[in-house]
Amino acid sequence: MSSARFAPSGRLYGWIQPPADKSISHRAALIAAMGEGETAVEGYLDAADTRSTLDAIKALGAEVVQERLGREEGLAGARGLRLSIRGVGLRNPEPANIDVGNAGTLLRLLPGWLAGQQGGEWSLDGDESIRRRPVDRIAVPLREMGADVSAREDRLPPLRVRGAPLHGITYEMPIASAQVKSCLLFAGLLADGETRVVEPAPSRDHTERMLTAAGADVRRDGNVVVVGAAERLEPEPILVPADISSAAFFLTAAVLVPGSEVELKSVGVNPTRTGFLVILERMGVEIDREKEVEGGGERVATLRVRSAPLRATEIGGPEIPLAIDELPLVALAACFAEGTTVVRDAEELRRKESDRIETVTAALRALGGRVEPTEDGMAIEGTGGLRGGTIESHGDHRIAMLGAVAGLASREGVEVVGMDAAAVSYPGFERDLASLTAG
Ligand code: S3P
Repeated sequence: MSSARFAPSGRLYGWIQPPADKSISHRAALIAAMGEGETAVEGYLDAADTRSTLDAIKALGAEVVQERLGREEGLAGARGLRLSIRGVGLRNPEPANIDVGNAGTLLRLLPGWLAGQQGGEWSLDGDESIRRRPVDRIAVPLREMGADVSAREDRLPPLRVRGAPLHGITYEMPIASAQVKSCLLFAGLLADGETRVVEPAPSRDHTERMLTAAGADVRRDGNVVVVGAAERLEPEPILVPADISSAAFFLTAAVLVPGSEVELKSVGVNPTRTGFLVILERMGVEIDREKEVEGGGERVATLRVRSAPLRATEIGGPEIPLAIDELPLVALAACFAEGTTVVRDAEELRRKESDRIETVTAALRALGGRVEPTEDGMAIEGTGGLRGGTIESHGDHRIAMLGAVAGLASREGVEVVGMDAAAVSYPGFERDLASLTAG
């Protein structure tokens, strides 16, 4: 486990193209693997989580040829990998034991595809943190469709899937989860009849977009996503934009360190992912969107942000799934705001790479913040800044990067124990952050 120290910095200035979107990269690999023939993926995220997905599709029989892109190459995802993936077809994955590493998205999405493969058998397992991530949220509806899945204590990995004939169902998700929705959409491709997934609130819709582009019959009817059975998928070439969830760390650093001005290029601004921008705007930040274009089924823009004084806000209800991975940064920003910020309806934070209500509270308190955890969120009293100190990442990439940003904006600096966790979604994060503070 590595530690790193982040000293208070002068203003941040310059531009960054953050690495490719993690959610879109996982889906690109999985859908290309389900497809017929070769699918080109431009700018695939080259990080631990998405490498687990490439290893998984290879174990299932897909062939992957990869080449690393230079900074100046490629369009949207100039920093990732250029892949050519030869799929195995929708009904032909080979039996395998899959190691998902730390990737919760792989753990929840892949079983949807496998559950309908009659005659096959698979297991999915991963690291210590993955073994605490619940899978009953997919096992329950998959079984309703006819699937044969079993899990440790009926709710935790390892997960075993034996392929079985599936039928379409209508499933009302108790929580808004793009992972559960995507799993059921994959299963629905192989099921008899239509599969209908009712969302309590909209969640990221990358799977719907990519499946539609591959020729699947996916429709939205109000808050219901409907998928019909498919014979085959023929994915379009996929262009992965930069990850707004990675851009969020630089946005926050620029907002908190006085005098900063930062530009983030080619960032995916799908409206199901931009909740954090809306929250920051409500707190008093101006975010300019430039060069906004639609490309490869996703909207992409350059974001420009300057430091600003912040006011507290309240976050809850349907806003939560649109900003779920950025809520730790909302809490950090709230420490610098005037007034008390309240986050509610976010109990899901307890089931991420760490219990993020506990780990964010512990981290911000260790730096001098005033945070009260609740069952489903937290209340953060703004004190105008943070002293600094030492925090633990608890193996959670987003907590490690939060600590780094807190360090730049703090009075005394922050030591992050377990900084290596950042490589799960963002290898090279420290180098990129340093490039913005280099003057
Ligand atoms: C993701 C969905 C979200 C998010 C996770 C990635 C995805 O999880 O927190 O980091 O790619 O579908 P839930 O679906 O559990 O809310």
